[in-house]
Amino acid sequence: MRIVVLVSGTGSNLQAVIDAVVSGGLPVEIVAVGADRAGTFGVERSAAAGLETFVVDFKKYASRADWDDALLERVAGYKPDYVVSSGFMRIVAASFIDAFDGRYINTHPALLPSFPGAHGVRDALNYGVKVTGCTVHFADAGVDTGPIIDQTAVRVLAQDTQESLHERIKVAERELLIKVLGDLARL
Ligand code: GAR
Repeated sequence: MRIVVLVSGTGSNLQAVIDAVVSGGLPVEIVAVGADRAGTFGVERSAAAGLETFVVDFKKYASRADWDDALLERVAGYKPDYVVSSGFMRIVAASFIDAFDGRYINTHPALLPSFPGAHGVRDALNYGVKVTGCTVHFADAGVDTGPIIDQTAVRVLAQDTQESLHERIKVAERELLIKVLGDLARL
């Protein structure tokens, strides 16, 4: 199963996927890792792991539509079976969703449909929920919407900060993402 992974940040969840592939526990080929901006640690660590990397820098395109076209062309060029948004903090165009219909997977650090968006951990903490978690889902053109594949619950502790809660969610998120990818690869 060929996957392209998209990141915007540190790519710690991606690193767990890389480790699972390298250890032989996940029968997946990461054909490329791409980012929407230059200088992400996610791309840096992928290059260090010997993976093909690319950047379709949002700031370098005259219009949103131009960036959409460039991202689609670049990702489609790798002919992936699945595209994984692992902390990719941009909503892709409808044309991208159409091209990878049912094959674009997103991970989110909350129990969707609660707390979508860029601040899922903070919003759940501020709301005062006692249980939050993570979601892996097939993404559509909305913000963290689309059919849910699987979820893991994570308890919020009295002393939690956004950082401590996110770290525990990420531990669950990594495990869940690797399980989902493994299940898809073995279909
Ligand atoms: C992950 O927790 C991911 O779910 C979240 O960004 C983090 C990326 O961490 N994505 C979203 O909030 C999308 N709405 P990482 O770069 O260290 O893997």
